[in-house]
Amino acid sequence: MGDSSTASQGKFLVFGSPAIGESEIEEVVASLRSGWLGTGPKVAQFEEGFRQYKDAGHAVAVNSCTAALHLSMLAAGLQPGDEVITTPLTFCASINAIIHAGATPVLADVDPVSMNIDPRAIENKITAKTKAILPVHFAGRACEMNAIMAIAEKHQLKVIEDCAHAIETEYQGRKAGTFGDFGCFSFYVTKNIVTGEGGMVLTANEEDAGRIKILALHGMSNDAWKRFGDEGYKHYYVTECGFKYNMMDLQAAIGIHQLKRVETYWKRREEIWQRYNEAFGNLPIELPEDPEPGTRHAYHLYTVLVDEDECGISRDAFLNAMTRHEIGVGVHYLSIPEHPYYQEAYGWNVTDYPNALRIGRQTVSLPLSAKLTTDDVQDVISAVKNAIR
Ligand SMILES: Cc1ncc(COP(=O)(O)O)c(C=O)c1O
Repeated sequence: MGDSSTASQGKFLVFGSPAIGESEIEEVVASLRSGWLGTGPKVAQFEEGFRQYKDAGHAVAVNSCTAALHLSMLAAGLQPGDEVITTPLTFCASINAIIHAGATPVLADVDPVSMNIDPRAIENKITAKTKAILPVHFAGRACEMNAIMAIAEKHQLKVIEDCAHAIETEYQGRKAGTFGDFGCFSFYVTKNIVTGEGGMVLTANEEDAGRIKILALHGMSNDAWKRFGDEGYKHYYVTECGFKYNMMDLQAAIGIHQLKRVETYWKRREEIWQRYNEAFGNLPIELPEDPEPGTRHAYHLYTVLVDEDECGISRDAFLNAMTRHEIGVGVHYLSIPEHPYYQEAYGWNVTDYPNALRIGRQTVSLPLSAKLTTDDVQDVISAVKNAIR
């Protein structure tokens, strides 16, 4: 796993740099040599592999989780004026996808410990216009799916799970992304398995899967990508106004081999997580809560909270100190109402979501990629201890 970009060799440790094996490289080269770069058999193979890994009914690959979320919202039948309840502690893509689908995002604050959307806060936000809930399994920790599904059933709401962090996540023995009507995944470069850019929708509903497939390729009738194959030219028909969201074989070539290592990588991240827990136990930073019993954490992000009063250093000064020590860090996330666009468009006020606000202003994500060597992990630990001293 050694690499020339590691801090221990005097180089900057890039946050979230993925572990790429030789088999991915060979498969990409084989795709290039074959001349078939676009959507084709490797995408179909990756979809089937992922579907099986997740015990899901149907899997449709797209070019990002953002696309997966957008198309899921459309397939859910959202109409302008419909409200979708989601968390303020998420990436902007979760919110933007709701807006692109023509619906209105409504925020419900997170639980301060799990950092996931609080089901009680969801109930408080339900109106006659609410049509869907979009829970985000933050950092890879499962949301309270029993409570969320009970609310959805009671109010006849669709559930679209944002599983960008949650490839390996399970809740009471069931895999994240198979509770709701749709589960949306990301294979962006920093994610637990990667395709560069990439995403996937899971659904139990065959009709929805078919519609998403069509919407992902301009609204052209099913399997339009086969029109250039060796089975003779096939006409396609545009059945609705779709998007250019299809995954390429070049991307799936990476994903097929990453998927084979999903559990090995998970194990490595779990080791790093435990090592951080041991190393930071005596520091005044707040560590991530242990996974809840009956759940499996995907260990996507290791987030610590830096409270200036406790640590003698502000969060932003801590970020800079880590960078000075050549350790790349992340912030997941400034709470959504901190951003000017949403304040202006929706009149959101940061103080209305106090838990997300506090987390967003104190949180720091430390490197947790399966690519990290033992020396890299030690470098991160030394840098944290140095910054907090
Ligand atoms: C919670 C969450 N949702 C959605 C996305 C969007 O994923 P993608 O970059 O694949 O569109 C991300 C990506 O970082 C994310 O973290």
